[in-house]
Amino acid sequence: MTATPIRFLDLPAQQARIAAELRRRLDAVLAHCQFVLGPEVAELEDRLTAFCGAAHCVAVSSGTDALQIALMAEGVGPGDAVFLPAFTYTATAEVPLLLGATPVFCDVDPRSFQIDPVSLAARIAAVRATGRLRPRALIGVDLFGQPADWPALTALAQREGLFALDDCAQSFGASLHGARLGHAADATAVSFFPSKPLGAYGDGGALLTEDAARAALYRSLRSHGEGTTRYEVLRTGMNGRLDTMQAAVLLSKLTVFEDELAMRERIASAYDAALADIVQVPARVPDSTSAWAIYAILLPDQATRTRVQEGLRRQGVPTAIYYPRPLHHQPAYRAAHDGVALPVAEDLAKRILALPIHPDLSDAQVALACATLRANL
Ligand SMILES: Cc1ncc(COP(=O)(O)O)c(C=O)c1O
Repeated sequence: MTATPIRFLDLPAQQARIAAELRRRLDAVLAHCQFVLGPEVAELEDRLTAFCGAAHCVAVSSGTDALQIALMAEGVGPGDAVFLPAFTYTATAEVPLLLGATPVFCDVDPRSFQIDPVSLAARIAAVRATGRLRPRALIGVDLFGQPADWPALTALAQREGLFALDDCAQSFGASLHGARLGHAADATAVSFFPSKPLGAYGDGGALLTEDAARAALYRSLRSHGEGTTRYEVLRTGMNGRLDTMQAAVLLSKLTVFEDELAMRERIASAYDAALADIVQVPARVPDSTSAWAIYAILLPDQATRTRVQEGLRRQGVPTAIYYPRPLHHQPAYRAAHDGVALPVAEDLAKRILALPIHPDLSDAQVALACATLRANL
């Protein structure tokens, strides 16, 4: 045992590293008292566009609201098919359903866990053949920190006339072909949930886009559909505004974000080196960098996963299962699904296991986690 217990996520350690900057930022908000959409929100939007090279950023209240605002802006609604992976967090599918649209679940790649463009193309063709729904949008999820196959996804979106939305909730900071995520699709939705690589101290999110007209719509939709003045209502919107305190926290965390991404990469590489001979480690998406929100291995079968997870827990190594059930098997979404089997997503749900990965994990703790895993296999 190391002296310090291994945490799955260590927000107190991170807070200690940024304490002075955090205090300075929070005090500034307490001094000006503009608690919603205050000056730090505009500053954050500028910093985020500069960080990822996107043209426009609109900070919003959560990653889920970012997805919802993006689809509302396109007028997605009843009769529309929205294609998305079956192996993702619930919010990706929840949002089309909230708008009255139908999520069409696609399978994922067994090695990178990202949405499979071959399955996506087949699902689009099947929807067109049936003629019941209108293909309108695809949501590609950058799962666990790695980018989805955006060149393939945007080519399909263009060919099929679909709006391409990047659910980058888990992966802000990752890059593909030398460019940070933020402009791979028509719009990019980011989450700042506290456990994300760039996490606030509450809910938060952002939309990134190259399109000025879309950005203006997002700004209106996040503030109840307002026009040029607050009490001019142009469209049905929502309360999707970001708190200034959260922007202040995120600005403090941005000062260390690049370093933290490097630390996460170092840990992922250490896991790869120590574990590749005994379990399936995550396949790297070619010519990309990952934000390593989650480092997930695959065990041979569900019984082994249960046994290994329990052994690790008893010996002080916390783990988590993302995701124990593919979305098309969730009770809430079954009725929306056409019954097609999605074998890779179904298999991953039985065998996947996430190991701790955060910037404050020491080399000794990573080594201990690996040795404990080896001993429990
Ligand atoms: C893939 C994915 N999409 C969307 C979301 C929703 O983000 P939020 O929790 O900020 O609403 C999450 C957050 O966990 C996520 O992992």
